[in-house]
Amino acid sequence: MAKRSAHYVCQSCGAVTPKWGGRCESCGEWNTIVEETVASVAPGGLGPGGPGGRGGKASHKLEFHALDGPAERLPRRTTGIAELDRVCGSGLVPGSAVLIGGDPGIGKSTLLLQAAAGLAGAGDGAGTACIYISGEESVDQVRLRAYRLGLSHAKVQLAAATSVRDIAASLDDTAGVVIADSIQTLYVDNLDSAPGTVAQVRASAQELIRLAKTRGFTLFLVGHVTKEGVLAGPRVLEHMVDTVLYFEGERGHQFRILRAVKNRFGPTDEIGVFEMTDAGLAEVANPSALVLAERRGTASGVSVFAGIEGTRPLLVEIQALVSASPLATPRRAVVGWDSGRLAMVLAVLEARCGLILAGKDIYLNVAGGLKVREPAADLAVAGALVSAASDTPVPEDMVIFGEIGLSGEVRSVGQTDARLKEAAKLGFARALIPAGRGRKAAETAGLQVDEIGHLRDMVGRIAGTRD
Ligand code: TYD
Ligand code: MG
Repeated sequence: MAKRSAHYVCQSCGAVTPKWGGRCESCGEWNTIVEETVASVAPGGLGPGGPGGRGGKASHKLEFHALDGPAERLPRRTTGIAELDRVCGSGLVPGSAVLIGGDPGIGKSTLLLQAAAGLAGAGDGAGTACIYISGEESVDQVRLRAYRLGLSHAKVQLAAATSVRDIAASLDDTAGVVIADSIQTLYVDNLDSAPGTVAQVRASAQELIRLAKTRGFTLFLVGHVTKEGVLAGPRVLEHMVDTVLYFEGERGHQFRILRAVKNRFGPTDEIGVFEMTDAGLAEVANPSALVLAERRGTASGVSVFAGIEGTRPLLVEIQALVSASPLATPRRAVVGWDSGRLAMVLAVLEARCGLILAGKDIYLNVAGGLKVREPAADLAVAGALVSAASDTPVPEDMVIFGEIGLSGEVRSVGQTDARLKEAAKLGFARALIPAGRGRKAAETAGLQVDEIGHLRDMVGRIAGTRD
């Protein structure tokens, strides 16, 4: 018989406390602690044919293995969307669980419907059996989307459902891929809490993941992230699944980035780049070219950063504006980069290079709605700032990368080769990079490379090139 007990769970981070409080001691969020009455789930889960309970206390001796035994290579299913396949680690692994998190409206359902259609195919028997379970939209709504995307012919099996028990009972061994959109709408009926609470999200996910492992299908869980914490954040799921992908992008911009933050079957930090169109998400095989396509001649305050995202190089335009401020505390606004990092670069420019920026409003923007996280962008940011402050354009055919230390030294970063090759491929002729290994790489890439050891050198190069 199930035992009932009450405890208090933070809806933001999932921490469990014995008593209620206004503020979660674990994550510091206010008003997120909710009482949850839990009937303990019978071990083995809810599904038909489950083992039903552990029963006695008999223990088994473990069988230990050597490291050099035969290891089965995991077969992969490809979705036909190369950007998605690569982020997952060259295809989907049967029996694995993938969580796709992101803001509402960012395009998760669209991406997964396109993937499902790619997997299922239109022909008879050729594709993977694909099941799309929508807990948010009706069958009609999903059909309308499929029609709009031109995917109506695809052999995707669609259902609108929220009960995990019903879903489990309807899945048979033929399912190849199951998509649950979204996990916050699903519920297991032996818990009293409402769908979307941490307890329900966790129990529903646990049951679906167990089914995925035993039946061998790939499970996609969609999870909304809201800043207000209205729905339980998918954070509690991150350790339960094999792969965590985040779908991100700035609203109003056409780019969408799918980023792997955890992957048991492939590299993390890998990104897939998509463009939003009327006909759904289009893959962007060469993001650098697209990002730079809107560059218009030379203007001051603009530099091109040769970055690396996952395994691929990506050239990004960085824009800065420096203007006299009427405010007592000048404004510092950043889009697409870390504001703490900007403060550091500004401090180094002032303290080590004598560039006076106090009393100026400073705006920094990464073009195209992209987000840059690499410290290697420091030097390109500094380049844009120096260029803006001195009203001198950075040469149009120059890329910049390098990390900046607090004493103003320019530190080397990884993958110099790949960065320079990408720059050469896109028609850049010059690169401003950290001193060290650039010479040889530059020869192979065919670029003219300027290696600098201190930020002061760059200030001299840019502010001194005024003609
Ligand atoms: P949707 O996939 O429903 O977002 P999510 O599942 O993350 O909440 O997409 C949101 C809206 O944007 C939807 O009305 C369709 C539209 N959209 C496009 O028109 N083109 C696109 O390429 C994408 C991704 C979305
Ligand atoms: Mg959706």
